Amino acid sequence: MKILVTGGAGFIGSHIVDAYVGGGHTVVVVDDLSSGRRENLHPKALFYQLDIRDSGLEKVFKEHAIDVVNHHAAQMDVRRSVDDPQFDAGVNVIGGLNVLESARKHGVAKFIFSSTGGAIYGEQDYFPADEEHPTRPLSPYGISKLSTEHYLFFYRETYGKQYTILRYANVYGPRQNPHGEAGVVAIFAAKMLKGEQPLINGDGTQTRDYTYVADVVRANVLALQADGSHTFNVGTGVETDVNVLFRSLARILSPSTPETHGPAKPGEQKRSVISFKNIQRAWGWSPTVTLEEGLQLTAEYFRKQQ
Ligand SMILES: NC(=O)c1ccc[n+]([C@@H]2O[C@H](COP(=O)([O-])OP(=O)(O)OC[C@H]3O[C@@H](n4cnc5c(N)ncnc54)[C@H](O)[C@@H]3O)[C@@H](O)[C@H]2O)c1
Repeated sequence: MKILVTGGAGFIGSHIVDAYVGGGHTVVVVDDLSSGRRENLHPKALFYQLDIRDSGLEKVFKEHAIDVVNHHAAQMDVRRSVDDPQFDAGVNVIGGLNVLESARKHGVAKFIFSSTGGAIYGEQDYFPADEEHPTRPLSPYGISKLSTEHYLFFYRETYGKQYTILRYANVYGPRQNPHGEAGVVAIFAAKMLKGEQPLINGDGTQTRDYTYVADVVRANVLALQADGSHTFNVGTGVETDVNVLFRSLARILSPSTPETHGPAKPGEQKRSVISFKNIQRAWGWSPTVTLEEGLQLTAEYFRKQQ
């Protein structure tokens, strides 16, 4: 198959590109390198350094007969979305629509979209949240991801275009950017290795569902074979608080690092954990990497990067 991966130089996207190339597919990557990196790019991937909002995107679809679009390019920083909701919507909604419209015009058969199972549900009524949980995003980022889901529904109803929406939990692993606001595992690991003090926001009892990137990649590989349209959570169903995460990582990287707390981030979601029962039932997907194993693998990567 010929697959276009937007955001294919980024953290998650680049691992998906590796798996698709490894599976014998031809992969085209569109990425503006705003947070992605050239070093992440698989040498066999055809690369266009391009903003998804750019009209030049059309040219990529004209030059390649794309069978599947896997859309990972996004502004993915929740705090930035709060500070600048127009920028967030510009990239995630308008940019996303540019990708969707180009895919429709050029007869692309399948569209895979990386949504969020953290920001989309907001504070949960029950734990873990399944896909039927009410969506009450508390950030412009969650709103922009949810609105792209709505557009996908519109394209299916109106044009018969099939989609797979994967709502990820908190993904971590090698290549995650340690310099941003998001990605607590990467941020803590990089700081511990530099001998700097990582700060736990607030009392550290806020919880997330940490999911290793290789498991997320497997869901994207399974999505290539799926018929019809689907919306699935991709997470572990295990809730871990930041204090526990800090201690687990410190045990691996720097046991003497003191546990230090900074001010709480206003508006930060308190608890988040999602159920993978539906994707397990439909595709046989379940997480295979425990947090302990995933942290080891991630720590090894950052150690080598030092
Ligand atoms: N990391 C997570 O925990 C997580 C959770 C849920 C959903 N997601 C989604 O997964 C996707 C990938 O996230 P990631 O963690 O790998 O982040 P990332 O920042 O590493 O990847 C995003 C990629 O998109 C590119 N990009 C950004 N704006 C662009 C634009 N206007 N035009 C072209 N390329 C652009 C960046 O350069 C980067 O390579 C995003 O859509 C994100 O919303 C991530």
